[in-house]
Amino acid sequence: MVDKFVLKTEINFNKQSIELLKEVHGTRAFIVSESIMDKMGYIKKVIDCLSIAGISSTAFTDVHPDPDVKVIGDGMQEYVKSGADVLVALGGGSTIDTAKGILYSACQFAKEAGNEFKKPQFIAIPTTSGTGSEVTNFSVITADDKKICIIDDFIAPDMALLDSTFMESLPPRVVVNTGIDVLVHAIEAYVSVKATDFTDALAEKAARLIFEYLPTLYKNVKDPYARDRVQNASCMAGMAFTNSGLGITHSLAHAIGGKFHIPHGLANALMMNAVMEYNADLSGCADSRASERYAQLAKVLQLPARTRREGAVSLMQAVKRLQKGLDIVENIRSAGIEQSAFESAVEAMSETALQDRCTPTSPRKPSKQDLICIYQKAY
Ligand SMILES: NC(=O)c1ccc[n+]([C@@H]2O[C@H](COP(=O)([O-])OP(=O)(O)OC[C@H]3O[C@@H](n4cnc5c(N)ncnc54)[C@H](O)[C@@H]3O)[C@@H](O)[C@H]2O)c1
Ligand SMILES: [Zn+2]
Repeated sequence: MVDKFVLKTEINFNKQSIELLKEVHGTRAFIVSESIMDKMGYIKKVIDCLSIAGISSTAFTDVHPDPDVKVIGDGMQEYVKSGADVLVALGGGSTIDTAKGILYSACQFAKEAGNEFKKPQFIAIPTTSGTGSEVTNFSVITADDKKICIIDDFIAPDMALLDSTFMESLPPRVVVNTGIDVLVHAIEAYVSVKATDFTDALAEKAARLIFEYLPTLYKNVKDPYARDRVQNASCMAGMAFTNSGLGITHSLAHAIGGKFHIPHGLANALMMNAVMEYNADLSGCADSRASERYAQLAKVLQLPARTRREGAVSLMQAVKRLQKGLDIVENIRSAGIEQSAFESAVEAMSETALQDRCTPTSPRKPSKQDLICIYQKAY
């Protein structure tokens, strides 16, 4: 099989990028967003730009964190009714994933009814720096307390507009939770069995930017330079993992996030140390492919890495220091999950994580029992 690096999205990334909406070709836009974006005046900004292009807009603002099948169904009905030829997602990963879910299901429904589906121009405007959803072919949807990944090139946005002024309003805790997700994307892309030189370059740069600028941004969320760096890191990590896939930090985070409604980035932060220890086989001889890759990344980050073990340990320690500096809770228990509730859910969560679409690209093939042990360690 031929190795490929695919990027379907045109990325525009300075403060004027939003102005490009004034040049979009189309007649009607369907804007997927959250009501908070309306209150902050962000939706008006988008509608005003589109109207200069002669495009009228309908806004669907029912999105909520960790979108479920109901919001996708409601949004799809409104989207079809609107007859839009431009689809705009304005919001965090939850919003962009909702727009992707709407696009995917509208197409499926049209096909099932024997109708032709005319794909709209799909524009993503992220308001968090975390998921990289503006460039990925992933959409994460919750159904029955389980997070399901749709992975399909069809749902990758055509255009991403990165304007970090939309992130000025982010609370510091959301900056941290979403920012740590970027680091997990970078590290999982780097150790994935599908990593290539192309994804490595993006993952390395994204990891460097997060280590350097996420603490600065946490201390001062108004720092425009740090905000741009973290935003670019988020997009680069997205470009990497949409090609390489992710790993079991995400599988485990999806399962625990779906069950206990923990924000996605925090769920990843809670799982990542135990997963790195498992992948690197630190309790064994630490000569795994993953430990070699962690050590390689440690070298890039100028951490001690004379051996695989030393490199993997250095990287884990650097991650722990970063998390501590960002005031991220140390374990699942401290995140407020009661032991009895955790214990009665752990087996089912491990089964769900084993089936997750991020698991096949993990550098170490886990058993269900391995996943149970990782959860217990992270608790
Ligand atoms: N599609 C992908 O490639 C991908 C990758 C990783 C995760 N995900 C999924 O994305 C979702 C998480 O997305 P997220 O981490 O971006 O968070 P989010 O979209 O859920 O937003 C988090 C919170 O921040 C608020 N918010 C967003 N932008 C804001 C702004 N500019 N100002 C003030 N408040 C703002 C939202 O209202 C929400 O309460 C999860 O469902 C996760 O599973 C998707
Ligand atoms: Zn993620």
